Amino acid sequence: MLDRILATLDESEKAAIDEEELAVLKAVADELLSVPQESLQLLPALQMIQTKHGYLPRLALRMVAEHLAVTIGNVYGIATFYNQFRFNPPGRNPIKVCLGTACHVKGGEIILENFERRLGIKENETSEDREYSLERVACIGCCALAPAVVVGEKVEAYVTPSKVEGIITEIEVRKEMAAREQEKNED
Ligand code: FES
Repeated sequence: MLDRILATLDESEKAAIDEEELAVLKAVADELLSVPQESLQLLPALQMIQTKHGYLPRLALRMVAEHLAVTIGNVYGIATFYNQFRFNPPGRNPIKVCLGTACHVKGGEIILENFERRLGIKENETSEDREYSLERVACIGCCALAPAVVVGEKVEAYVTPSKVEGIITEIEVRKEMAAREQEKNED
């Protein structure tokens, strides 16, 4: 099924699919084989892909439509109705900025803007190198630490614009050190 769908793409659409996305699509093609081919399976199928891969690739939606014999409009209708679904791959460093009431009052919106400027992406986007993804979330349950941000698994408390810079710098330094370590091991 995947090959057939890929064959319908023009060159620029094909070029936009990188290796990581292709691997996800191949996995989805296999996973769909275990999903009964009936329209009632639409939501469970999307949830399965979201859970396993962290997002719904555009072509995966076409595969779901074909597998369940529903229209692509139906698939997008469901996928956009529920806010549990993401359409961009999660970055290796997912950043979630809390904009629940307490964090909003303490300047969460400004923190989000700072991340957007620093990373050159908007909320719900992923950087081209897939290093970062950015999203706003509702209360994460630690209002006393507002404004709070979750970076990967770690909660960052009392975040200020200068702390935004510090968070990104720390990630970059870690990345640089890991690259050097790898180079050393390869020598
Ligand atoms: S509102 Fe941000 S942690 Fe509760």
